[in-house]
Amino acid sequence: MFFKQNIESYFDVFSKADYNSLFADSIKYLEELKSDNKSGKLPLFSPDTQSCDIDQIIEVANEIKSHFQHLIILGTGGSSLCGQTLTGFNEFERRISKSSPEITYMDNVDPNTFEAFFQSIKADDCCFLVISKSGGTLETMSQFSLCHSFMSEKLGSEKAAKHFYIITDPIKNPLRDAGNELSIKILDHKKDIGGRFSILTNVGLLPAAVAGLDIRKICFGASQIVKSNFDNPQNSESLQGAVLSYLAMENDKNINVYMPYIDSLKNLSSWFRQIWSESLGKDNRGSTPINGIGTLDQHSQLQLYLDGPDDKIYTFVILKNERVTQKINSDFLEGSILSYANGKTLSDVIFGSYHGTKEALVAHNRAVRTFELDSLDETILGALVMNLIFETVLTGKIMNIDPFDQPAVEESKIISKKLLSEMV
Ligand code: PA5
Repeated sequence: MFFKQNIESYFDVFSKADYNSLFADSIKYLEELKSDNKSGKLPLFSPDTQSCDIDQIIEVANEIKSHFQHLIILGTGGSSLCGQTLTGFNEFERRISKSSPEITYMDNVDPNTFEAFFQSIKADDCCFLVISKSGGTLETMSQFSLCHSFMSEKLGSEKAAKHFYIITDPIKNPLRDAGNELSIKILDHKKDIGGRFSILTNVGLLPAAVAGLDIRKICFGASQIVKSNFDNPQNSESLQGAVLSYLAMENDKNINVYMPYIDSLKNLSSWFRQIWSESLGKDNRGSTPINGIGTLDQHSQLQLYLDGPDDKIYTFVILKNERVTQKINSDFLEGSILSYANGKTLSDVIFGSYHGTKEALVAHNRAVRTFELDSLDETILGALVMNLIFETVLTGKIMNIDPFDQPAVEESKIISKKLLSEMV
């Protein structure tokens, strides 16, 4: 497989007998997911059978790349974070080499940001991708309305339409109706795949393809995790993770920290925060996800982790590579308290810091899980994504809740709607 998780330190904290018995009892959930997938009810677990979609995604991505320098993605929640997660891969490298169109995610409705945005963009260069599964999200439709007016004013409405693409459900909804009326190209959101889980559909893959990522590899990596979970449930690492997360909740460790030591996975940890919160925070239960990035967050959160309340579990992801072989070697370090850094590479620095953190936490009897990767490419990114989907869905199954809905969010939408309708 692409990575191996190390969960040994969990058994200093949780009973191995409880774990073994819950794991054995939970294999049925993987079988349930497999059968729902086979019957077509859960297309989420079929990233490998979407090759016809992939051809269309690549075609549209090429169209965007050949006409525009700047792709702006309008949408919120899963409709934005799915793309951000994938395009976060090697994002820094692409930005400085300018090897693909600039991608901007406008995922909020802060008027200050939009004012600055309209002042800075050049209409001719810009392409807008509007993503909303329901096609009725207040924030997304407000963004779309403003951006469409801006572009129509600059280019005229006929030309402006060619600067927009829409992804929405293949049913009547306000976004689809507007797209049809304005002659904007519409791509269908995959039926039966919810917003936050739509990362391996055009919602995540179209931005990724525009960014120049190999989206077939992403889907291949994801499909290998599906295969190994469904074909070999007794050894499922995703189920191991879910069982441990559940045991943590049962043992009053209701905070789940996900902290890669890899900049390319920064957005993955934000997406983890979303899928974990929206899928599992139900019926007064759930655990609170904390996303982080190492080593950076050692300097913001580690004091709490080591010395604060013992109510958390930790997952670290680290890459064992040697991309910068140049060694730190400076006279000004010699004789200083940092003389030990001389002669080391950045890989040594990040790995040493990760080890220090992990070992200190274990010494404090904290439950730490690690993924040590030998390499990181699109295949492994896809595998990590699918592993998190499985862990989330399986944890929901063990909790006996529906991980696919988010009923409480509707309450706040109803109150906002009432308030906005009454405003004069
Ligand atoms: O995961 C979810 O379902 C949500 O986070 C949605 O993605 C978010 O609310 C946006 O919804 P929509 O895509 O319908 O505009």
